Amino acid sequence: MQERISKALPSGVYIVTARNGEKINGMTAAWASQVSFNPPMVAVSIAQQRFTYGLIKESGRFCLNALAEDGIDLAKHFGFKSGRSFDKFKGIDHTTTMSGLPVITKAYAYIDCELASMFDTGDHTLFIGSVSECVVIRHDAAPLIFAWHDFFGKKA
Ligand SMILES: Cc1cc2nc3c(=O)[nH]c(=O)nc-3n(C[C@H](O)[C@H](O)[C@H](O)COP(=O)(O)O)c2cc1C
Repeated sequence: MQERISKALPSGVYIVTARNGEKINGMTAAWASQVSFNPPMVAVSIAQQRFTYGLIKESGRFCLNALAEDGIDLAKHFGFKSGRSFDKFKGIDHTTTMSGLPVITKAYAYIDCELASMFDTGDHTLFIGSVSECVVIRHDAAPLIFAWHDFFGKKA
């Protein structure tokens, strides 16, 4: 079922970054979308047990880093281990948004957001963000489209 839904509802692959004080972190997310035209707003769905969940809730900001087609290894790096007791940014080239959130240098684009609202949706929480900054970094690259088999093998 999950694999079929991801085929029927194509999405990009994002690293959601957040900061609380000196602690920075990022996690991979495929469930992200624009949800308002004016004002521009986006949403990302994050499970409560993710370390990133608490960082966004406490700091009130998040940044969606859209990956490029060459970003599968980055998505695996940020998507299969928690940053709770591990620095996922060690060895990963990054800069920052104007608000100070991490931007992955190899990302295709980023959208920096201020948290506007959040509500539970089944076993995840939808974080809605007002867009503060949106930058396409690599105009020559194509965005990575989520494909189940790139990350989770054949059966789902
Ligand atoms: C391709 C891919 C897509 C993912 N999409 C989501 C998602 O949309 N929401 C979510 O909560 N977790 C998603 N995950 C799982 C988190 O990225 C993973 O649990 C991560 O280790 C959490 O990191 P953290 O504990 O440092 O926040 C995805 C993982 C992968 C590999």
